[in-house]
Amino acid sequence: MSGIRLAPSILSADFAALGRDIAAAERGGADLIHVDVMDGHFVPNITIGPPVVQAIKRVATRPLDVHLMIEEPDRYIDEFVAAGASMVSVHVEAVPHLHRSVAHIKALGVKAGVVLNPSTPAAMLEDIAPDVDFVLVMSVNPGFGGQSFIPSTLPKIAEARRIIDRGGRPIRLEVDGGVKVDNIGAVAAAGADTFVAGSAIFGAGDYTSTIAAMRRAIGY
Ligand code: DX5
Ligand code: ZN
Repeated sequence: MSGIRLAPSILSADFAALGRDIAAAERGGADLIHVDVMDGHFVPNITIGPPVVQAIKRVATRPLDVHLMIEEPDRYIDEFVAAGASMVSVHVEAVPHLHRSVAHIKALGVKAGVVLNPSTPAAMLEDIAPDVDFVLVMSVNPGFGGQSFIPSTLPKIAEARRIIDRGGRPIRLEVDGGVKVDNIGAVAAAGADTFVAGSAIFGAGDYTSTIAAMRRAIGY
């Protein structure tokens, strides 16, 4: 598996100018575009659905990393893939048959990820790791951008890395929530290789210099 990936979360972009903000993030060095889908049930916020993903897909040149924070995500996986998702992740807390959900995503020809909330132990990855393309560890309680990184998630990131490495198969480890220039080094040292950042990038005037500073902080 090669290199690290930075995934700006458009949750903190200007929703009235998504195309402009995505293009600017891509010019600034974004590797993925992270899309936060929330339903007001699994998390206390409502964001975007397949039509918006479809519109984003028309302008984005990087893969769309679609993070489903919704109840019954199985009902919507096909629609998000048809809309243009290249990666789809589901929360282990949201589905009763995780293996079936992961198999469903992979059968559609896109990358399948599983997500852990901050209070969900890394051990939940043990049995599903052989089947996933990536793992996403939440470092805030999902629902909103701009929250503070929860430090106790660092040892969990390290534990998740140990579990996925045991299989000897390349699996990406993504971290999402409160990632900034000043803590991304610690997140990388714990074992993450894919970094979601919303407010740190879209809240800064100059996306390019923020993304460059993040890369420098992890020596890449
Ligand atoms: C939180 C979302 C995150 C969020 C990250 O529920 O999953 O992707 O946009 O935003 P920041 O980087 O501002 O914490
Ligand atoms: Zn997210």
